[in-house]
Amino acid sequence: MRILIRLMPLLAAVPLLSAAAGPDRNAQARAAMQSSFKAHGQAGMERLDQDATQALCSRYAPGMPPGEDAARAMAANRASIRYPADGNFLGDWKRGEAIAQEGTGKQYSDDPGKPSGGNCYACHRLSGDEVAYGTIGPSLYQFGKNRGRSEEMLKLTWSMIYDMKAFTLCSAMPRFGSRGILDEQQIKDVMALLFDPDSPVNR
Ligand code: HEC
Repeated sequence: MRILIRLMPLLAAVPLLSAAAGPDRNAQARAAMQSSFKAHGQAGMERLDQDATQALCSRYAPGMPPGEDAARAMAANRASIRYPADGNFLGDWKRGEAIAQEGTGKQYSDDPGKPSGGNCYACHRLSGDEVAYGTIGPSLYQFGKNRGRSEEMLKLTWSMIYDMKAFTLCSAMPRFGSRGILDEQQIKDVMALLFDPDSPVNR
């Protein structure tokens, strides 16, 4: 009985809490960010604007948007993918390794005139020798060795690097091509890192 009485104030608070977490919470979060974020260098206030995919994922987070909506959004993202003009998917793996290691580019303190890095190691294991890597994404060690180098595999991997949200709608992986983080040559270079038999990924 005593326990129940002690719980009463907690129980009374529940409806209030759920009201705060109601449909309005996106607007509240946005207002909080609008009032605390500042435009700084290349990081303008437009970074708070969500595109259609991000808005859809936010709406259902931490769950997934319903199948039909998700399929439509992924199809739109897939339509944004551009393939290399010369039909050649592979560049230079040594440059690719430098791009995969480089984490600067889009922050307020970075020089917008300089090319951005891919920061792949922040989320993936790639080279067998590198011991500092994140595990948000799967290991890409031995990627080319395991997957082969068919035209289909090259095209699929290019597409995933270009816009992972064409495959996993609410993926955490940056959309390197469709968001202009890496240019065509840089994507070719990280592709070579993944597929070249001499690259540290496949050795
Ligand atoms: C912020 C974390 C993050 C960064 C940075 C990142 N990725 Fe990913 N990546 C992921 C996640 C998470 C997945 C799993 C796919 C998903 O989201 O469902 C993934 C999947 C992949 C896959 C598919 C793996 C498979 O088994 O088919 C490839 C290829 C890939 N990433 C390449 C890259 C490359 C190249 C870079 C750098 C240019 C990079 N990623 C940067 C998070 C990241």
